[in-house]
Amino acid sequence: MHFQWYPGHMTKAKRSMQEDIKLIDLVIELVDARIPRSSKNPDIDQLAGNKSRIILLNKVDMADPALLDSWMKYYEGKGYLTLAINAKKKNELKKVNQLIQKACQEKIERDRKRGILNRPVRAMIVGIPNVGKSTFINSFAGKASAKTGNKPGVTKGKQWIRLNKQVEMLDTPGILWPKFEDQTVGLHLAFIGSIKDELIQSLDLALDLVEFLQESYPGLLSDHYGIDEKTESLQVVSQIATKRGCLKKGNELDYDKAAFLLLDDFRNARLGRITIERPE
Ligand code: G4P
Repeated sequence: MHFQWYPGHMTKAKRSMQEDIKLIDLVIELVDARIPRSSKNPDIDQLAGNKSRIILLNKVDMADPALLDSWMKYYEGKGYLTLAINAKKKNELKKVNQLIQKACQEKIERDRKRGILNRPVRAMIVGIPNVGKSTFINSFAGKASAKTGNKPGVTKGKQWIRLNKQVEMLDTPGILWPKFEDQTVGLHLAFIGSIKDELIQSLDLALDLVEFLQESYPGLLSDHYGIDEKTESLQVVSQIATKRGCLKKGNELDYDKAAFLLLDDFRNARLGRITIERPE
């Protein structure tokens, strides 16, 4: 399988983010906790320059709890503040708020020394498509008491969500693009459903997923589908097709349907909480 992205969208998104980054102090980057490496674009490091940085490992409800800590330590080791969250849950946002305060302490202190008082710290959310940026902003905005209006001249057209006296967040996220450094990145994005299925072969993808699960989560496929997973990946898909009655006309096994069923089960965490990537 070969994965590509669309250069036109990328250039536009990058330009718009460069503009927005000038307005803010803090970059809050969302990554998918199931693929914390492939859902992060390293170019943001250069774009963000010397802004404060937070990484939120989102969709924690679908990720393997056993690997979360090591991923958080991994990114903390690289100088980020980190937190694992479920953007759909509003009650987790208090912790995010506390983290934002922590990330901005230095900035507030610096402003204070220069005699700048009560200037709110400004943050923006960034991330590749589908990591949960809109969900996060909606959860946060829903809770925040006020949206600030446009400030003529300075931030024309920009809406800021006021989180409290000290922090405001840009209401439109910065869209990053996945970085296809190697085919694994594309594969992992495809596993979680972040690459349109029309562009890829579901069966090939499902076979790769079977092989990953056989190696990293042994026993899981056997338990979930009541099959014998200790065989070739195509045989596994064939058994799933039989068990789940995926049939074409003439009672022939429908491999594509079984492949789709497996991918759908994985993407909706019906196979349990699974993390695809491990820190180095
Ligand atoms: P984006 O702006 O970064 O592109 O992502 P968006 O918020 O649109 O979220 C993409 C999908 O991920 C949405 O599902 C959203 O509900 C889901 N999502 C976001 N955060 C979390 C999380 O922490 N846990 C889980 N389980 N899901 C999350 P969707 O299928 O597109 O829509 P819907 O099913 O919510 O209607």
